[in-house]
Amino acid sequence: MEIPTPSTIGLPIGLLAELTHRCPLACPYCSNPVALEGRNTELSTEGWKRVFSEAAKLGILQVHLSGGEPAARRDIVELVQHCASVGLYTNLITSGIGVTEKLISELAEAGLDHIQLSIQDSDAESADKIAGYKGAFAKKQIVAGWIKAAEFPLTVNAVMHRANIARSAAMVELAIELGASRVEIAHTQYYGWALPNRAALMPSRTETETAVAEIDALRKRHHGEIVIDLVIPDYHATYPKACMGGWAKQFINVTPSGKVIPCHASETIPGLEFWNVTEHTLSDIWYSSPAFNAYRGIAWMPEPCRSCDRREIDFGGCRCQAFAILGDANATDPACHRSPHHVLMTDIAEVDSNGAIGDYLYRKFPANVA
Ligand code: SF4
Ligand code: FES
Repeated sequence: MEIPTPSTIGLPIGLLAELTHRCPLACPYCSNPVALEGRNTELSTEGWKRVFSEAAKLGILQVHLSGGEPAARRDIVELVQHCASVGLYTNLITSGIGVTEKLISELAEAGLDHIQLSIQDSDAESADKIAGYKGAFAKKQIVAGWIKAAEFPLTVNAVMHRANIARSAAMVELAIELGASRVEIAHTQYYGWALPNRAALMPSRTETETAVAEIDALRKRHHGEIVIDLVIPDYHATYPKACMGGWAKQFINVTPSGKVIPCHASETIPGLEFWNVTEHTLSDIWYSSPAFNAYRGIAWMPEPCRSCDRREIDFGGCRCQAFAILGDANATDPACHRSPHHVLMTDIAEVDSNGAIGDYLYRKFPANVA
C-alpha cells in the first residue's frame, strides 16, 4: 500500500474559511462544532489575509467565505478585496441575515465572484421555525433580489430533513424564482449540531426515495435552466459518499481561530493533532500536519475497504461518521453496505425517523461557546 509523501500529495483546490462562528440563525443541523469558537478567539484581518496569500501560493483556486455568518465580520469587504488581489475565486456562503444592499454592491466592487444563499424551506412559517429566526424567510427573498440586481451568479442551498423533505421540489422551484443558476439539495449530514438533533431531523426511507425521484424528474424538466445538485442521506445509502473528496486530498478548512482541519467534523475524532496558522504556514500544514496525514491515501484502510474495488472512489467514506456511529474513526464508514456494521446505520435511521418533528436543540451563540 502506498503511503503518501510530500512528492505524492497533490494540491488542494479549495479552502473553506470559517471566518466566524457568530450567526443570527440557529439552524439545528448546523455543521459548526457544538463547542463554538468565541469572537475573542477569531483571527484578525491581517491574520486572515496572510492565510489567503498563503493559500494562493500553495495553489488553491477557490476560497469559500463561510461561518457562522461571514457578513458578521466587519472586515468582510476588505477580505474579499484581498482574495481577489491574490487571484483567488471567492464564494460567499451566507444566510442573508445581516446583509444589506450596500454590502452587496461593496462586495461586487471588491471582486467577489459568487454567492451561495441558504434557504430553510419554501414555506415561510416552517422556514422561520427551522432557522429559529422570525422573518428570516422574507429577508432572504429581498437579499436574493439584491444579489441578482448586482449580477452575481447565485447558488441556493437547501438542507433537507423531515420537516421540509415533502417540499424538496417546491424548494427547487423557489430557487428558480429567486434567479439561481444552481441549487444544492443537500440532505442533512449528521455532524455538529445535527447529531444531537438526529431524531428530530431524520426522514424515513420512503420520504427520502420520494424526494430523490422528484428531484430526478425536476432535473430533466429544468435541464439547461438550472443545475440541481443532490446529496442523499448517508443513513439510507448503499455506498458512502467520498467525504471531502477524500481525506486531505482536495480541501482545507480553517476555523475562526486559525485551526486547520481536514473537514468540518474532524475535531470530534479524539487524538488528532491539528496545527494552527498562527504557528505554521498553510503549506507546512497541508503536507506535514499529523491530522492531515492521519487518513490520507489508502494505507490506513481496514478490510473490507483495503481490498475493495471502490477504495479510490469513496476512500472508505467518512472518518467522522465512522467515529460517530462506531466510536472508531479507522473503521469502514457504516453507511457502506459492505461494512459489517451497516445494519446499525439502518436501525438508527428507522428508529430516529419516528422522532418528534421540530423538537430541536437550536444552535446557540454565545451560550455554547467553548
Ligand atoms: Fe467504499 Fe470501503 Fe465500502 Fe469499498 S468497502 S465501497 S472502499 S466504504
Ligand atoms: Fe470528517 Fe467526513 S466529515 S471525514
